[in-house]
Amino acid sequence: MTQLVLQQPLTLSSGTIIKNRFFKSAMNENFAKNGHPNQQHVNLYRTWANGGAGLLLTGNVMIDQHALGEPGNVVVEDERDLEVLKQWAEAGTVNNTQLWMQINHPGKQSPRTLSKEPVAPSAIGFDGIYGRAFNKPRALTQDEIKQTIQRFVNTAAIAKKAGFTGVEIHGAHGYLIDQFLSPLDNQRTDEYGGSLENRMRFLVEIYQGIRQTLGDDFPIGLKINSSDFQPGGFTEDNSLQVIKRMESLGINLIEISGGNYASPKMSTGTSKNSNDAFFINYAKKIKDLIHVPVGLTGGFRTQSSMENAVADGDTNMVGIGRPLVLLPDLPNRIFNGSYATVNLPWLTTGIKSLDKTIGPAIGNSYYEQQMARIANDEKPKISTNAWSPLFYSLRVQGLAALSPKRAK
Ligand SMILES: Cc1cc2nc3c(=O)[nH]c(=O)nc-3n(C[C@H](O)[C@H](O)[C@H](O)COP(=O)(O)O)c2cc1C
Repeated sequence: MTQLVLQQPLTLSSGTIIKNRFFKSAMNENFAKNGHPNQQHVNLYRTWANGGAGLLLTGNVMIDQHALGEPGNVVVEDERDLEVLKQWAEAGTVNNTQLWMQINHPGKQSPRTLSKEPVAPSAIGFDGIYGRAFNKPRALTQDEIKQTIQRFVNTAAIAKKAGFTGVEIHGAHGYLIDQFLSPLDNQRTDEYGGSLENRMRFLVEIYQGIRQTLGDDFPIGLKINSSDFQPGGFTEDNSLQVIKRMESLGINLIEISGGNYASPKMSTGTSKNSNDAFFINYAKKIKDLIHVPVGLTGGFRTQSSMENAVADGDTNMVGIGRPLVLLPDLPNRIFNGSYATVNLPWLTTGIKSLDKTIGPAIGNSYYEQQMARIANDEKPKISTNAWSPLFYSLRVQGLAALSPKRAK
């Protein structure tokens, strides 16, 4: 069989070798109780590591137990779970797999069921239906900004100590770092707001803190939006400037996504491309302007789109989320020639008005339910029935399950 470009290893500037061009993008597993990781994480990541992807990113791990994006988030803020984190790291690195912890703070995207008063760069709440789901945030003080930066560094250090082979800073999807980057969310007048240079300071200081603490050979990635698709918001040009700055500081991998809760393009894409990947037009635009390796996430379904995206130089790596829940061994299937294109099921309760109100919550719940099946050594179930994931979420999360989430 001819070698696919997707099978070629990639060496990062940290010296890290990723054995092939597939990475599993971060998906909140929703398994944690009170922030604690458990055997379900261990089992799920062992399955994925055996499935062939070169790099696995964990679901977003929160740096502060008082700031959750979703119920069921893992929180790492001290070493109380070090033993199970070690088991998770061991399982996720079998088969010569890289396992990176995605670290995050939700900022104002912490639903009112979880946060009475979330924090953000500025006290700017959501409009419209989101205004009902999220409380208005208060602005972080400068001392709190410094403490939050230190929390990111601390979580990354614990990840390394536990055996995770890298970290990814979550700078996308409207969470706290992205809120600092966005001129709509960040209207501070100190050195963390105003110009793009100032708006990226929070991210830069997080990166620099992790780098200084963990050294040059520990790979650090950044997930960033191509744009947040909101008038007056974070633009493609802003995104490129941030990537260039992070490249100059030595970031090892950039993952491109897009959107936020108010405009969830990370799950739906923007418009029709020649390739099915959602943000490939942006990747094409920036490819000659930057040198740091890029991973593109969202929408990859056909083998040809994955292979062509790398072969054409539009991206160095292919990031896959939902298809890897339905087929945890998708990379192996591609490598052994047995892959048939995955079609994501369109979930419905059968009641249009209900689909509209709780649809986004159900979309995620379905994939969380399938991740739980894999963790319990069962096969994922392909289904379009939204009731089962809805009841699953209500059972594990209670009413918080109906809060808005990132996927449609
Ligand atoms: C259940 C679920 C949970 C997700 N959790 C995260 C997360 O924790 N961090 C993140 O950056 N993206 C998260 N995402 C977004 C995915 O990483 C990815 O960007 C998105 O699903 C598009 O890729 P796909 O079309 O291959 O699924 C999540 C998506 C789903 C479906």
